[in-house]
Amino acid sequence: MNSQYDVVIFGATSFVGQILVQYLADNFNKPGKETLNWAIAGRSHSKLMEVKAQVNQPELATIIADAHDEAAINAMCAQAKVIISTVGPYALYGETLVKVCAETGTDYCDLTGEVQWIDRMLKKYEATAKASGAHIVHCSGFDSIPSDMGVYFTQREAKNNLGEYCNNISMRVKAAKGGASGGTIASILNITKEVMKDPALRKDLVNPYLICPPGHNFKTRQFDTKKPTFDKNFNGWTAPFIMAGINTRIVFRSNALAGSPYGTDFKYDEAMLVGKGLKGRLTATGIVAGLGAFFVGAALKPTRWVLENYMLPKPGEGPTPKEQVEGYYDIRFIGKTPSGKEIHTKVIGQGDPGYGSTSQMLGQVGACLALDKDLLADKEGGFWTTSTLLGDRLIERLEKDAQLKFEVLS
Ligand SMILES: NC(=O)c1ccc[n+]([C@@H]2O[C@H](COP(=O)([O-])OP(=O)(O)OC[C@H]3O[C@@H](n4cnc5c(N)ncnc54)[C@H](OP(=O)(O)O)[C@@H]3O)[C@@H](O)[C@H]2O)c1
Repeated sequence: MNSQYDVVIFGATSFVGQILVQYLADNFNKPGKETLNWAIAGRSHSKLMEVKAQVNQPELATIIADAHDEAAINAMCAQAKVIISTVGPYALYGETLVKVCAETGTDYCDLTGEVQWIDRMLKKYEATAKASGAHIVHCSGFDSIPSDMGVYFTQREAKNNLGEYCNNISMRVKAAKGGASGGTIASILNITKEVMKDPALRKDLVNPYLICPPGHNFKTRQFDTKKPTFDKNFNGWTAPFIMAGINTRIVFRSNALAGSPYGTDFKYDEAMLVGKGLKGRLTATGIVAGLGAFFVGAALKPTRWVLENYMLPKPGEGPTPKEQVEGYYDIRFIGKTPSGKEIHTKVIGQGDPGYGSTSQMLGQVGACLALDKDLLADKEGGFWTTSTLLGDRLIERLEKDAQLKFEVLS
């Protein structure tokens, strides 16, 4: 396809989109850097002009498209090899773009963490994407790259160093510093609203294999940290990790898409490591109580209204530039093989997880899709995960240009 642009950022005016625009402006088309022909897109001409001015890129091309205007979305896709979308909540605004990308063979990546929406997109458009050759990659930010690529890395190192894949991996968030944006809060609140409207969805959301391809044959029960739990392996108290509900689903999908190399009984779980002793136990108890109160508050209309209007960041709001730069995360994995060997690994990232780091990861997924054509040449169209489509090449990119590090500890 001879598209005009390698990459178009749809949603360049969003909180995370603006950070991504700055990241591409700083990291491409400079001496010693890759060449990337990119443009920005959104529904508002005046807001796109403001974004161009902010990054001091007067020549940057702009495309106007509303997320619900299929003709405009078609015209945008006709100009792009890859669309990076930050227009969310995706369950409200994302479907037309996924449909058009799947139909036109345009590669696509996004930041959704909305597993119920991914499930709907798979059912409706996977066959179309396979036929057109479009590579669709959801969850290309903090959810779920450190998890999906961290498991991929741990398994790669286990196979190389221990001679076998792990059939059990636990991931623990050892440290993280960052904040939430209005768009992320809007996405979480929208899932809660959907569940209240359709209680059957609750059953889907607890199914660890919801987005695995048909015929995966995974039946193993998975462990889910729901209450304060002492973890002997990591020697500390753990609390639920709010992103586990999407990350674990992506990891199981990756195993299924790769043909179950980790076994059909592969176990994987995620939690937050919060400390030792009484302090750790109290922190874990506080987190469980806080999450419970948040979800009860979000489920009930009057308290949800108070949360949306007075307590939580609104769409367009989020961490300050200083917080985006100074944030970080440190994620640990312990993998165990069927013969009882162990591997310990870590993934660390600089930049606050949801924005400073997410924008770099998303930018590199977009660049990998657009520029690493040799890698994609033998990969058929369809809905992929970052690890199954981009594998080692993405790790190289993340370590070189997105401030991530993957390491074997022992
Ligand atoms: N996976 C992760 O780690 C991660 C991290 C961060 C964010 N996210 C997700 O990324 C998404 C964006 O978050 P955010 O905080 O940056 O959101 P935001 O600031 O609220 O921005 C929303 C964007 O959607 C655009 N938009 C809304 N309706 C539209 C329509 N009808 N047509 C075209 N554009 C439309 C807005 O355009 P206007 O500016 O014109 O209003 C804006 O650019 C959310 O879904 C969030 O959950 C995920």
